[in-house]
Amino acid sequence: MPERSRISSAHISPSAHYTGYVWYHHRLAEPAFVTGFGRFVHKLLWPVTWGARVGFGLDIEAFLLQRHLQIDAQLAAAVEQGGVQQVVEIACGLSPRGRRFRTRYPQLRYLEADLPAMAARKRLLLRDQGWLCGDHQVRAVDILAERGRDSLPALFAELDPRQPVLVITEGLVNYFPLAVIEDFWRRLADELRGFAGGSYLTELYPDLREHPRYRQLRWGVGLIGWLTRGSYPLHYRDHGEIVAGFQRCGFDRVEVLDPGANAPGLGLPAPRMPGLVRVVQAQV
Ligand SMILES: C[S@@+](CC[C@H](N)C(=O)[O-])C[C@H]1O[C@@H](n2cnc3c(N)ncnc32)[C@H](O)[C@@H]1O
Repeated sequence: MPERSRISSAHISPSAHYTGYVWYHHRLAEPAFVTGFGRFVHKLLWPVTWGARVGFGLDIEAFLLQRHLQIDAQLAAAVEQGGVQQVVEIACGLSPRGRRFRTRYPQLRYLEADLPAMAARKRLLLRDQGWLCGDHQVRAVDILAERGRDSLPALFAELDPRQPVLVITEGLVNYFPLAVIEDFWRRLADELRGFAGGSYLTELYPDLREHPRYRQLRWGVGLIGWLTRGSYPLHYRDHGEIVAGFQRCGFDRVEVLDPGANAPGLGLPAPRMPGLVRVVQAQV
């Protein structure tokens, strides 16, 4: 496994400006979440997203919306039916989910977390809007840090272990090689076991070699890697491998959802192509 201490992931943070703009563009976020850089990159990439949609039937923003709204739907169900009162959103970037869910469920304790620079930016944004409060906070975390003030143990020490907790990551896991992200998942499952109940929601782009647009998908993945000056590996070949992978990392129950197949239920148009993204809900 690549040595964690030598991996830096700061190069990933600019991508949060782009997704932040996408959420705003689709009316999921208020204007405060928009940055000039996010708007610029969205405009810059428009010919690419247009070409992928018209030329190959691959709607990149639809895939983003599918994952975002499927995670929202699972979170809402966990709050309404599962009694979840504490949420930790790791790699929150400029996502408006914390703001939206705190407005909808004011009883929720919502901890957003990201690398220190992005966390500071998000904290300032929420504070300037008057949205930051005792139950809605932003913390610095580095999923690669095993110990210290930015580590997972330090983040989870803030929460009430007698209450169930739900952890979200979105737009994070495919930036890392599988061995690195599985190591994070193992440490996360260990943390979750310290709570009255622990669940984890993430999206995941698997290596769907049978997909009719697999070749174009590889180009897209190469483009994301180039834009973020890193790589974007696809993890696991199918449903069975995803379940087995999460179980190996210490999760007991694993559900794999295909947000493309659920699109109408999420309020989205039925896609022309089989989905590329999966949402995983795993519990300890
Ligand atoms: C593509 S953005 C996704 C942001 C947000 N979740 C969304 O969907 O709009 C990726 C985020 O991962 C964060 N990130 C990258 N490496 C990280 C790490 N080692 N620990 C925690 N967050 C990290 C970045 O700072 C960035 O905010």
